[in-house]
Amino acid sequence: MRIGILTGGGDCPALNAVIRAAVKTSVGFGWEVLGIEEGFDGLVHFKTRSLTKTSVSGILHLGGTILGTTNAANPFSYPTLDNSGTAIARDISDTVVSNFQKLGLDALIVIGGDGTLAIAERFYEKGIPIVGVPKTIDNDIGGTVFTFGFDTAVNTARDALDKLHTTAESHRRVMVVEVMGRHAGWIAVHSGIAGGADIILIPEIPYDPAKIVETIIMRERLGKHFSIVVVAEGAFEQSGQPIYAEANPAGRERRLGGVGQRVASVITELTGKETRVVVLGHLQRGGPPTSFDRVLGTRFGAAAARLIRKGAFGRMVALMPPDVESLPIREAIGQRRIVPVDSDIIESAREIGISFGN
Ligand code: F6P
Repeated sequence: MRIGILTGGGDCPALNAVIRAAVKTSVGFGWEVLGIEEGFDGLVHFKTRSLTKTSVSGILHLGGTILGTTNAANPFSYPTLDNSGTAIARDISDTVVSNFQKLGLDALIVIGGDGTLAIAERFYEKGIPIVGVPKTIDNDIGGTVFTFGFDTAVNTARDALDKLHTTAESHRRVMVVEVMGRHAGWIAVHSGIAGGADIILIPEIPYDPAKIVETIIMRERLGKHFSIVVVAEGAFEQSGQPIYAEANPAGRERRLGGVGQRVASVITELTGKETRVVVLGHLQRGGPPTSFDRVLGTRFGAAAARLIRKGAFGRMVALMPPDVESLPIREAIGQRRIVPVDSDIIESAREIGISFGN
């Protein structure tokens, strides 16, 4: 038995924990493992390397992915140039299927977010025996209660909030902290609660600038001359739209960005308070994974190998507490997990006085 393993899409802490566990478990089953480099691009250009217990030793604590990754190499819409040098996208998925066979692979573990898993599902339908492992700091993949990487991102944002608190208080300023998460507010909600934010703005609850200002002014009256606002990058004003950092890019999802500055400008304009913006950006994607993410990554990696042993292809491992179970990849990618606005976490946050800007 010879299996391949690849990481696709944006990187995220604990990818290496998954690779390490999948390789160790597979080798324990007596299989050979081939690492596919830079996502599906490795299957287009035969960029591979053998993975053994020795080669995955010492990577558990490392952020990123030892295999490399890309979010711009979808074989169903592969960026290339036509004869006149114009950029076009071509379907080269048949080449990938044939290269998979040429490499003598029996199965493939695909570790990725919803975009990569959607590609994986299409290859499964084309006959490649695939199992999926959900990955993203955004925690927005259906079917699993948590994705690894999320806890590390939350801790990074919470650490920033702890640091920003003291400087905000010293200068009597408003600090607006823009966090990642795409169209889900998980990172903002968890880091905001853990980091003692006064206002949390998330895509699931469009905000009203007047309500933000109301909270800040009320705090002033209570003698709290500073405020901490956590804004998810996908948050937007009531009757407004999410703000993007770029126009439509070819072949990948459009990047969000800029809502933090928008919120800060409104606060300064309406309260006269000095306001500063911190965009945490890719800091949230790097660094050593937390213990929670290392454990979850290890469980997912080992469970993926077990799925292959059972022949349960087209399925994705998922945390369904207390156990790691699995579900069809098709079902998972069909549902984006966003923060339920009527959940206890939102209710509890409101009860302790956090404003969601509505
Ligand atoms: O999906 C993970 C994520 O970090 C999002 O939170 C963010 O919107 C996006 O990726 C950034 O993408 P890129 O790395 O392409 O800038």
